[in-house]
Amino acid sequence: MKTKHYFVELGVLEEGRFVVREVNNRSVGATLLHGQPVVILNSCPHAGAPICQGKITPKLVIESAQALQLDAEHPVLRCPWHGWEFNLEDGMVNGFNSRLRLAKLQHELENDSLYIWI
Ligand code: FES
Repeated sequence: MKTKHYFVELGVLEEGRFVVREVNNRSVGATLLHGQPVVILNSCPHAGAPICQGKITPKLVIESAQALQLDAEHPVLRCPWHGWEFNLEDGMVNGFNSRLRLAKLQHELENDSLYIWI
């Protein structure tokens, strides 16, 4: 059964960087995406890397062999071990089909603090 836990003051979070804490013996990371919190387990769904140590970068969009674009509106999180990229919005793998996805956690804001359910 999941329980609610205090995680961090909202003002500590920033875009492009994870704050990582141990909660209920699980490593959890939180960042901001377009001003809204994103909370995930700090474990890559591929092989368990500490995914929150990865870089958040603009998504590479390949339109053709000659047309590559960076999409900063839809950033991805690149795993530090094997380089898989995950969309921060839906947690899905970027670039190929996979059932694996980031484990996003339920969260809520209360009095300028972020609480998570785990
Ligand atoms: S452990 Fe993350 S891509 Fe392999």
